[in-house]
Amino acid sequence: MRIPRMAIEAESPEQLGYDRLKFNLTESSVRDRDLAEFDLDLKALTLCYGDHLGRADLRAMIAARAGGGLTADDVLITAGASAALFMIALTLLEAGDHMVVVRPNYATNIETPRAIGCDISYLDLRFEDGFALDLTALAALTRPSTKLISITAPHNPTGVALAEADLRAVIAIGEACGAPGGAHVLVDETYRDMSFAPPPPVAATLDPRAISVCSLSKAFGIPGIRTGWILTRDADLALRFLCAKEQIGICGSVVDEAIAAAAYAQAGTWLAANDARLRQAFTTVRDWMAGEPLLEWVEPGGGCVAFPRIREDAGVDVAAFHRILNEDHAAYVGPGHWFEQSDRHFRIGYGWPTAEELAGGLDAISKSLRAARS
Ligand SMILES: Cc1ncc(COP(=O)(O)O)c(C=O)c1O
Repeated sequence: MRIPRMAIEAESPEQLGYDRLKFNLTESSVRDRDLAEFDLDLKALTLCYGDHLGRADLRAMIAARAGGGLTADDVLITAGASAALFMIALTLLEAGDHMVVVRPNYATNIETPRAIGCDISYLDLRFEDGFALDLTALAALTRPSTKLISITAPHNPTGVALAEADLRAVIAIGEACGAPGGAHVLVDETYRDMSFAPPPPVAATLDPRAISVCSLSKAFGIPGIRTGWILTRDADLALRFLCAKEQIGICGSVVDEAIAAAAYAQAGTWLAANDARLRQAFTTVRDWMAGEPLLEWVEPGGGCVAFPRIREDAGVDVAAFHRILNEDHAAYVGPGHWFEQSDRHFRIGYGWPTAEELAGGLDAISKSLRAARS
């Protein structure tokens, strides 16, 4: 299998060097936390192989928060949501299999099935439709042979939320197509804990064919411990995912999982604090957008990212804009090509920067737009 390097990773801020960035508006998370914030003594931790499913107390907490009767046995801890997505694709899909995936999207949701050689139908979200899922179009893309429907909610890079009725409709579309029992529905819920309005239920609680993926990278601000998970109520499927995990790395890191358990125990406090901070940062972005005539956007329903675009008639040289932004202002956004879109679009991550960095970055964008006008 030939796996390409994804632009979103090759050009990521950590690969570029954080010290080169003055205004880092590329991140799709809250600020990264330091280990010092944890009241943790790891000296007594035995560095043995861990439970192959993942640490039991962590899985129990995740299942309890997901609700819907899920238990610790329905949770498989993975090395981030990215490993979860890779394992799911590898487990469910073979070359030639048909699947439907939303585009734009976090690259792994598309690149791994593409590397496997799947027959992919893209459900293209349109700016003009408010980046909403078109359920009729989705149903039309499915076939009797469809193996997987893959969506991301809340959505990356647009920040658009999904209503419960729409989530249920997607699952129903999955049930109505595909192999006996229907196609599986993968819901990448990596941003679920960053919703301004109450999010829909965890997809895996709604149907055994629905698979949920999430992680501690974004809302908890601890991507460095590489901890995510897969949820499914289908025991046979859960076993297949475990087999994939054991092939890759047997079990997770006991150090990561100890930190993850300590972090997850703080979910109530940390997520409430995020919510207040994200709402404030979102207001900053919304006020700036209201006064920025060269851009247009679909206002996100929450989260930590927005995906504005440069107006067609703004007379902005798009390549020059990104160059000036990077080189003259040391400011970075996520350019559209990270998501297979034109660079006229760009993702702004407003949850990670400090209030000063966010204001400085937005100002740098406005200045760069004007400097790049012909
Ligand atoms: C939608 C989505 N899924 C999965 C991931 C992978 O996250 P991680 O592996 O850090 O948990 C990302 C990262 O940006 C993402 O945006």
